[in-house]
Amino acid sequence: MRVLIRPDYDSVSLWAANYIAYKIKRFKPTLKKPFVLGLPTGSTPLGTFRELIKMHKDGKLSFENVVTFNMDEYIGLNEKHPQSYHYFMWENFFKHIDIKKNNIHILNGMTKNYEKECELYENAIKAFGGVHLFLGGLGEDGHIAFNEPGSSLTSRTRVKTLTSDTIQVNSRFFDNDISKVPTTALTVGIGTIMDAEEVMILATGSKKARAIHHAIEGSINHMWPVSILQMHQHGIIVCDEEATNELKADTVRYFKDIEKNNF
Ligand code: GLP
Repeated sequence: MRVLIRPDYDSVSLWAANYIAYKIKRFKPTLKKPFVLGLPTGSTPLGTFRELIKMHKDGKLSFENVVTFNMDEYIGLNEKHPQSYHYFMWENFFKHIDIKKNNIHILNGMTKNYEKECELYENAIKAFGGVHLFLGGLGEDGHIAFNEPGSSLTSRTRVKTLTSDTIQVNSRFFDNDISKVPTTALTVGIGTIMDAEEVMILATGSKKARAIHHAIEGSINHMWPVSILQMHQHGIIVCDEEATNELKADTVRYFKDIEKNNF
């Protein structure tokens, strides 16, 4: 696993955006051979989205032949709901770039048939030959997408019940009212994420320090879903200094040293 430690949120965002742009350009996507990008929501990736949008506006990056699959969506929020991940993605990313609408995939939280929706989503990913790069955020409790602690480490796209901790944390987007936060979501599974050619998890701020400790120094355990990244051939964690607060000084020194000359 690679661990990139950057001084602050902005430099994490810049590093991640540069890496995504590098991967897309190196792939040279075409209509017949698109680049498949997995995307998260949350506050962490906002800076990365901003940098990618800037590159696009400066004429340095095109998403014309990029296909996206988002990680998750709340059950019961339609795409016009300001807190739905559909709305979030459109407002914060898609409407600012040249991606084709048909190339965007987000689970439909309004579906009446959850099983079918999840099966179709898995099939759609397969039909594109899999995800090239899955970008993810990190929950304070170590969740990735909405795979809460205790999730099967080989899980596929399905319905998940959100923990009280996650509902509490996410209530900041719902007027701090936990009764407004949906209690269930559709989410890609940990197995779905792990099938990607590459997985890059972003984590910033001291609130993520405990999860980062378990991800990097802990053993692989379903109670810290992100720890499965240790099993990925191409797993990358990009975090800021604050998120390393609970790592041993030696661990931090090791990764800073080994990555010092790398992109
Ligand atoms: C939500 C999302 C996750 C995200 C996490 C962290 O629960 N389902 O995909 O990684 O929040 O969000 P933030 O980046 O705002 O800390």
